[in-house]
Amino acid sequence: MVLGICVRYNFKFIIGFFIVLYAIITLLFFNFYKELAIKDTKQEAISMLNTINAIRSYVDEIQRPIINDLKNTHFKENFFDSRILSSSSIAQYIYDKQLLEKELKYEYKLVATNPLNPIHQANEFETEILNKFREGKIKDYFSLIKEKNQSYFFIAMPIGKNKKSCLQCHGNPKDAPRGMIEQYGDTSGFYEKIDDLRAMIYLKIAISSILFYHIEEFITGGLAMFFVFIIFIILIYIIYKKDMRLQEKKENLFVHQNRLAVMGGMIGNISHQWKQPLTQLSYIFINLELLSERNKLTNDKLVFKIKEANDQIFFMTNTINDFKNFFSPKKVMNEHKIEDILKQSKRLLKASLDRYNLEFVIDIKEDFIFYGCKNELVQVFINIINNAKDAFISKDIDKRVIHAQTYVEDGKDIITIKNNAGSIDEKVIGKIFEPYFSTKDLSVATGIGLYICKVIIESNKGTIDVKNLDEGVVFTIKF
Ligand code: HEC
Repeated sequence: MVLGICVRYNFKFIIGFFIVLYAIITLLFFNFYKELAIKDTKQEAISMLNTINAIRSYVDEIQRPIINDLKNTHFKENFFDSRILSSSSIAQYIYDKQLLEKELKYEYKLVATNPLNPIHQANEFETEILNKFREGKIKDYFSLIKEKNQSYFFIAMPIGKNKKSCLQCHGNPKDAPRGMIEQYGDTSGFYEKIDDLRAMIYLKIAISSILFYHIEEFITGGLAMFFVFIIFIILIYIIYKKDMRLQEKKENLFVHQNRLAVMGGMIGNISHQWKQPLTQLSYIFINLELLSERNKLTNDKLVFKIKEANDQIFFMTNTINDFKNFFSPKKVMNEHKIEDILKQSKRLLKASLDRYNLEFVIDIKEDFIFYGCKNELVQVFINIINNAKDAFISKDIDKRVIHAQTYVEDGKDIITIKNNAGSIDEKVIGKIFEPYFSTKDLSVATGIGLYICKVIIESNKGTIDVKNLDEGVVFTIKF
């Protein structure tokens, strides 16, 4: 059973370990997926920002010069319409259109420190990044930011540097188209210098929306892992069950071996217990013979002698029945009074108790019913008593008393078996129920006996433990 307990605790431990492992793996998995999702988003964001920059370049380098050329022939000199002349407006328009198609909620923004349109005014955080771009330290900026308890993925890129052509509208306001000045005023967005960086574009995406966008991957991945985990648990359970069955078989074998050993030791007891009644019987017969020879065998005397003989035979029958019952290999589950079981154990051991001068006191404070295999419990008592007997002999103690008591406490049925055969070393007392454990106090022959007691008691849903007393030890069995 010690091994059994080991396996049982191990199983709990393994399950616990697996749950922790599963939690860690799940966490790592989700983190990994999150990283992957963000990387994916980053890639897409970069490509979107590149597109926006490309549109800006297209307007700056191709569209606007063409329109400027056309101005002289087809438009009025002060013609201005941001829808075809401002790369910022066009990019924003195209971006908005593109965004409608997307499931992910991107927040696109163009920010400048000196904007023409105040909606492009950069805040502190944005100015900081913009300055990094200006210093030329980085080509793009990427970070996770928190705003109002929401996490965002933030990716920024600088726009193209100021060219000479930009100064037409962002240089001196006097040079700018009048239509533009009328629309935007002349206070901000001017006096830019060639090769300076005016602004940056960025995308901000809520992490939750990225995760939600990838929810299917998360669910499939999570489910797959869950099933793998369940399969693992089932496999471990099957292995554990097999192991338990093997363990049980082993234990049954041990119990059986011990029974055989106990029985072997008791064969001598049978003949010993029959010796006296057999002698008595033989006396009775001699007596009868003498009486009959002397013709003194009256009817009364005959009846009396027959009764005497019958008593002896009855005693012998009882003895042999006790042994026969105990030797029976059948495991019969039944209700038994604990007193009967203790008394039967005492009867079976009578010869041995007499021989070694052991006093076995049965003190029934409260009787209770034991449901189970009677023989098994008898085996337990015999093992405990044999164990005490060995201790008495090895310590050469004169007055040898084994005291069994039964009572009920806190709803538990309790049997204590006390002896005065000296105490067991505290260092090893916890180990005496282990198989093949033996000290000088306990003989090698009974090394397995206490282990068997534990196996039997635990298989009957009870507990057994041992404690040192002043003069000996006490075994306590609880059901
Ligand atoms: C024909 C005039 C014109 C030219 C040339 C021009 N822009 Fe603009 N730009 C504008 C207008 C108008 C806006 C405001 C658009 C709006 O309302 O969003 C603007 C806005 C911007 C903005 C957004 C910040 C802000 O000021 O509101 C940036 C950045 C910008 N322009 C950069 C440039 C660069 C770089 C060049 C040269 C490659 C350039 N622009 C050339 C007219 C011009």
